[in-house]
Amino acid sequence: MVKSSVYSQRRAQLASQLGSDGIAILPTAFERARNRDSDYLYRHDSYFYYLTGFSEPNAWILIDSSGHTTLFCQPKDMEREIWDGIRLGPGAAQDSLGVDAAYSIAELEVHMPRMLENREVLWYPMATHSGLESRIEGWLQKVRSRVRYGALCPEQIRDVCVLLDEMRLIKDETEQATMRKAAQISAQAHIRAMQLCARMLREGKDVREYHLDAELLHAFRQHGSQYPAYASIVAAGANACVLHYRADNAAVNNGALVLIDAGCELDSYASDITRTFPANGQFTGAQRALYDLVEASQQAAVAATRSGARFTEPHEASVRVLAQGMLDVGLLNKDKVGGLDDVIEKRAYFQFYMHRTSHWLGMDVHDCGSYIEPSEKGHLNHRKDALTGEVLSNRPARILRPGMVLTLEPGIYVRPASGVPEHFNNIGIRIEDDAIVTNTGCELISRDVPVKAQAIEELMRP
Ligand code: GLY
Ligand code: MN
Ligand code: MN
Repeated sequence: MVKSSVYSQRRAQLASQLGSDGIAILPTAFERARNRDSDYLYRHDSYFYYLTGFSEPNAWILIDSSGHTTLFCQPKDMEREIWDGIRLGPGAAQDSLGVDAAYSIAELEVHMPRMLENREVLWYPMATHSGLESRIEGWLQKVRSRVRYGALCPEQIRDVCVLLDEMRLIKDETEQATMRKAAQISAQAHIRAMQLCARMLREGKDVREYHLDAELLHAFRQHGSQYPAYASIVAAGANACVLHYRADNAAVNNGALVLIDAGCELDSYASDITRTFPANGQFTGAQRALYDLVEASQQAAVAATRSGARFTEPHEASVRVLAQGMLDVGLLNKDKVGGLDDVIEKRAYFQFYMHRTSHWLGMDVHDCGSYIEPSEKGHLNHRKDALTGEVLSNRPARILRPGMVLTLEPGIYVRPASGVPEHFNNIGIRIEDDAIVTNTGCELISRDVPVKAQAIEELMRP
């Protein structure tokens, strides 16, 4: 049974922001066919779950300004339940989920237009479910057809994500505890994959990326995670330079690096960890030089992550360290690109570090939440890009607050190119940890798997 209190509190908090005569409607995720009679593994919608704790498909929730909540869900059905599993059903939903009314999903079309009548503002999650807009339009047409009988049609349509994103951005104690646990499970999975890799190579076995992928999945499920939070990246050697590579069947060669970016989802919360390690447990000189650089840049990002700092500060701190390091190790030639400030201004580092350092983490791996500081939305800054001459506009970045959770994931990816020292070719390194912002700094919740090169080597010894 789902504990309803936290969900009803969230619904009340949302209701208080809907205006005097507003109503919010949210569907859960729709099921999707994969092929013939098989569906993609079902995963509820995060907004919907955040407000209900209910994970069955075919469900909608309506919340009005008074906090009155109506659920539409699958009806009890003996035959379907034999095939697909037990359904809660509208009869039990009131007690179980703490909603005020519950109906069968079969009644949605009949009730919905009536429930949208005489409301001033209709809130729904804009641009999140394809086809939703046209269904809403259909219901509003029915409301409009009753205007001559005295019905009022909503005058405004607004995005409920704007309200929910702000709520979801700050994780409460319970959410933080779940995220800690998810990160701990993922950390153990990374350790197991590293150790398996070195052990198989020592035993002279043919190691493939899928062996490590299987080890991760085993560790996730063994500890109660429902599924990976995203498709695991297990990239051997040059594959690590493909940012969204998926675990495939490439051989993991003795002497190569392996980049694993994998995290489990536990009770609807994601973890997101990347480690890069030498397949045989021993970094080469060139690998170690770049590894230590990425590690130092991550330390700089960690040091810049604290309440009151801007979301962009960890990225800027990482970039500074990486850019200086690229000059020091000869990835960038200062006679061509200039000094540190030139490298940053003209983004010369971009050849080897082309993504951002952070994203929000929560129920979704790339979690919701504005990256702009809401109170400064109107402060538009313009600057001329030193590289392209283009005038770029941006708004002040979000100010970090306690309870926000973000990743810190700098990297270096070296594709062969003219001027690049050969011994760095095809090295791809990323180190990613999950951080909860605190009053004084941040809590790294994914550090049960070490990051220091020496600690990784120790971990991989027999
Ligand atoms: N695993 C996805 C990411 O790191 O953003
Ligand atoms: Mn990430
Ligand atoms: Mn990741």
